[in-house]
This record gives sequence, C-alpha cells and structure tokens, in this order.
Amino acid sequence: MKENEISIIPRPVELKNRDGYFTIDSRTSVFASKEAGKALNFFLRRIASSTGVNLRFGGEPADKSPVNSIILISEPAGSKNEEAYSLDVSEKNVVIKAGFSKGFLNGVSSLFQLMPADVWRSAPVSKFSWRIPSVFIDDCPRFKWRGMHLDAARYYMPKEFIRKFIDLLAIHKFNVLHWHLTDDQGWRIEIKKYPKLTKISSVRKETIAGHHSNRPRLFDGAPHGGFYSRDDVREIVAYADALDITVLPEIEMPGHTQAVLAAYPELGCTGGPYEVSTIWSIHEDIFCAGNEKVFSFLEDVLSEVMELFPGKYIHIGGDEAPKKRWEKCPKCQARMRKEKLADEHELQSWFIRKIEKFLNANDRRLIGWDEILEGGLAPNATVMSWRSEEGGIKALKAGHDVVFAPNQHTYFDYYQTSDQFAQPLCIGGYLPLENVYAYNPVPKGLSKSEHAHILGAQGQLWTEYMPTPKHVEFMAFPRMCALSEVLWSQEKSRDFKSFANSLERHLKRLDVMDVNYAKS
Ligand code: ACM
Ligand code: ZN
Repeated sequence: MKENEISIIPRPVELKNRDGYFTIDSRTSVFASKEAGKALNFFLRRIASSTGVNLRFGGEPADKSPVNSIILISEPAGSKNEEAYSLDVSEKNVVIKAGFSKGFLNGVSSLFQLMPADVWRSAPVSKFSWRIPSVFIDDCPRFKWRGMHLDAARYYMPKEFIRKFIDLLAIHKFNVLHWHLTDDQGWRIEIKKYPKLTKISSVRKETIAGHHSNRPRLFDGAPHGGFYSRDDVREIVAYADALDITVLPEIEMPGHTQAVLAAYPELGCTGGPYEVSTIWSIHEDIFCAGNEKVFSFLEDVLSEVMELFPGKYIHIGGDEAPKKRWEKCPKCQARMRKEKLADEHELQSWFIRKIEKFLNANDRRLIGWDEILEGGLAPNATVMSWRSEEGGIKALKAGHDVVFAPNQHTYFDYYQTSDQFAQPLCIGGYLPLENVYAYNPVPKGLSKSEHAHILGAQGQLWTEYMPTPKHVEFMAFPRMCALSEVLWSQEKSRDFKSFANSLERHLKRLDVMDVNYAKS
C-alpha cells in the first residue's frame, strides 16, 4: 500500500519504508540549526503558502527531540558530500540531518514529496492535517553539476517565470540555472556603461513566423523586446541563492552577437549597418577579433556581469561563430599575422584565451560550448559538450572539466513524440522521455582520473520556438523530471518503468503548481 504513496523524483539513494505515519498540522513545531536557515525558510514559506498556517519556530534543536515536530539538525560534516542529507520520518517527529545548507534544502525537497500534492498550492487548503508516511532516507547526488539552461534571449521570459522555474529546479534537486542572456535576436541584461544594449539591442522589430527553413519567409510584424534590469538580476540571483542554486550567466562571443552590433556597429568587421536579427539561424556578423574596442567592450560588460553574478563560472558561449567575416577583414588578418596564428580557428582560440585571462585575473572560471576546442582550448577552460559527447571526451582527455549537454539526450527544444504534427512546431530533432532517462553522462573508455573531471550534465531550453513561459513548461516537463534522475540517482537504481510509475503521481504535483507539462 505504502509503496504506492511514495514517489520521490529524483529517486533517493536509499529509502526504507516503515510502519505508521507522522501527522503535520497547525500544532507542529519546527526546530532548526543555524546551518539549516535557508531550508527552514523554504519549508515555512511553502507551508504558509499552501495552508495559511505559520508553524511555530522553536529555535535550535535541543538534545531531546520533541514530539510533533520537524527537526533540522546539523551533524558533523566530515567527508560527506555537501548536498547529502538523511530524512527520518517516524510517528513521533521528522528529523532531517545534514552537514551543510544544501543538504538541508534537498532534505526538505524530499519531505515535500512525501506530503500530499496540496503542499504545492499557492492558495491555502481549507483543512490542514496531512499524513506523512514513515520512512528513512539516506541520500546524496551522483553528479555535482545538475543544470538547466534557459534561453531568455530568443524570447524574453518574465521575472515571475524565472522565479517559478527556479522553484521547479529546487524541487527536482537541480543546482545550476544557466541563463542564456544574449543572442543575435536580443540582449537581455542591463549594462550601465553601454545603455544602447538595452535601448537598441534588446528589441527586434518583428520575428520570423513558422519554421526558419520555410520559404518564402513570413514575419509576425510585431516588435519583441525586454530586458532584466540590474535590480531584476540581483533579485533573481538572490532568489536562487535562497535555494542554493547558482545562476550561471551566458554572454555570447564572438558569435551570436548581431544584436550587439546593431547598437555598436563599430564592433563588427564590416562596420554595418546591422539590425537586431528577426530570423533563427547562424549569423555571419560577429565581433571583430582585430579591434581593441571589442575587448574593452567585453571586459567592461564582463566586469558588470561579475558584479551581479557571484558564481565561480562565467559562460562565454563560443559556439557557432562563422569565420567568413574574419577571413576578409584587414584588422582580423593583421591580428593573425601579429599573433602568428595559422588560421581563423586559432584566432577564435586566441580570442577566448584573452577573455579567459581576464576572467581568471578576476578569480572566475571560463566555461564555453565545445567549439572553444577548435584552434586550441584555453588552459583553464571548462567545456560544455553539446554537439555530441565527442568534444567533452576530448576535453576530459586533455585534463579539463566537462559538463555534458549533448543534443541527442539533453536538447529539450526537440520533439517529444515521433508524430510531429501532433505537437507544436519545434526546431527539429526527436527526444522522447525514455531517451532522456536513458542518458548516462559517463562515456565509456575513459580512465578514473578522466571521469573525475566530469562535473555533470544539463538540459537545454533554446526558445526559438517557445515564445511563452507556458510553452517552455510544455517542452521542459516531464523531460526535466527524467533528467533529474540521470543527474541525482545512482545508475544501478535507475529503472524507466518505476520512474514512469512515480512520474504519474509526480504529475499531480505539477498540476497543483500549474505546470503545463506535455501529456505525451
Ligand atoms: C548551441 O546549441 N548552439 C550551443
Ligand atoms: Zn574583423
């Protein structure tokens, strides 16, 4: 019976069923060690939102564990994983133990999944008395980088949705939000020193309608724009930090930059004029690698970005930068001669190395898409392997850290079922739930020391064909649920059938959260 009541996604490492239930109601008290502060807030806020009840906070836990209480208690961290926790539900009380803040948050996330789906409501239930099945859970993640990428450049995504998306990350024990903020079709982050980025680069006059390969091209005739102010960014970063989620900003270079060139045409090889792009595809106009102004621009921009984002990594894109303009540009060619670079790939490598030096000097790490391998990888770079696992494998063999993001398993902008006409238009591709679930981000044939450089993996939400948050949800779910098990759960415990069973109950939670998941 109880088996059917328990559906925690991602599946914990160890879960033991016990007899009986704990009942949480308005008389339940909460105790928490200082280290559990974020988890305590997460817990109390959620319960208040779904029940209207502010549970009593009784301070730090004492030696004797009181009845009818939820207790978040620190244990000596030792060599334990920072994100590990145990969760002990008995008829008497609920005890979450962890060494660090992150562990407590993960424990609370699991505890919520033992409660009725109503815990996810945003309006109070009429009667608050919930049974929580007695269990013992001992849990920790398989990978330390469990990310989701979200493209807010192709379509601006409102702040409220970003917050909801962060909640959904936390619930599924993801810990990185990769926020794609700049692209050919729009620049979405306020930079004080370059006001034209928000005045000009953030707005396109219209958007291509239908698939980008259709001819003739049709357009919607409607301007699209939007950007995140510095205060918006601070708010989002703080919101994520309260759940121990790191926000990784992506500022594209040298390609995917036509929107910048529209505002600052002197940064391109030809001098323009350029417009913020209205079509989806790879664009030939990119930053000029021979122009010093490009680097002072990028250092200024990255300085402001580092001020807003405290995380260790800055994503600099690096993907899909055609070399056609560089081949013809006297400034780029002069740079190649001066720096003794054999070809335009080496010029791109030189570009990325220069940016890496700047980031490293500011105590940050550079991460980029796997094209940054071409022409030679910057010495401290981390590679995000998207075209397949091949780039990642090459980087691992060279001793670099890698985050796997192969389109074959992690591109959630692909179709979810084989019948494409039954779904909204997509960019292409085919990635059903099973294929996400089957992914194992540890390629075969590598040594133990090479494995040690695999940070983890992440899912991608490129939004060319997802103009609204509801559409993003449709593409993200339930595939994100499957990915969460790939990233968190032990490989040997993974089983698609049992995941699918859990998912059925889990979808009720997503219903309560008003998540527009795909029903296929
Ligand atoms: C990418 O999909 N261009 C990284
Ligand atoms: Zn140039």
